[in-house]
Amino acid sequence: MKIAIAYFSGYHGNTKKLLDAIVGLSDITLIDVVNCKEFNLSNYDIIGFASGIYFGSFNKKVLKFAENNLPNDKQVFLIHTYGVKGNYTKEIKKIIKEKNCKLLGIYGCRGFDTFGPFKLIGGIAKGHPNAKDIDGAISFFKKIIEK
Ligand SMILES: Cc1cc2nc3c(=O)[nH]c(=O)nc-3n(C[C@H](O)[C@H](O)[C@H](O)COP(=O)(O)O)c2cc1C
Repeated sequence: MKIAIAYFSGYHGNTKKLLDAIVGLSDITLIDVVNCKEFNLSNYDIIGFASGIYFGSFNKKVLKFAENNLPNDKQVFLIHTYGVKGNYTKEIKKIIKEKNCKLLGIYGCRGFDTFGPFKLIGGIAKGHPNAKDIDGAISFFKKIIEK
């Protein structure tokens, strides 16, 4: 089974920490959307999109990558990290739906956040993703590939 994960993790590398924990569990190609705008995903069985949350959404480059490269009728999963728990998957879900893809699951956890006023108090979600968050991502991913 071939899996690709297109990701953006440009802030503290929080999201990448989760990906580094799962990358060895299967045949996974990691695609950094900062360096890669076009990628042929037609031969991949499952496609993941992973991102920190910026202004209430997956990073714009991840959304653009999905719009441009996600083939129709694929199986998809989502991974994200955020400062404060919320509903941040609306835009990416819309693209998944438009491409008639099946969303297998969503994993999210907190990630160290020093954005804006949070910097003044030394940041929030310090130490996240922690070992428990990373274990959660591993369990989530194992379930995705068993589906
Ligand atoms: C410009 C900017 C905007 C952000 N907006 C949000 C937000 O709307 N909601 C939230 O919960 N966290 C927000 N955060 C915090 C990040 O989502 C969080 O730190 C995340 O783990 C960053 O992931 P990364 O280190 O993989 O880039 C924001 C961070 C930055 C830098």
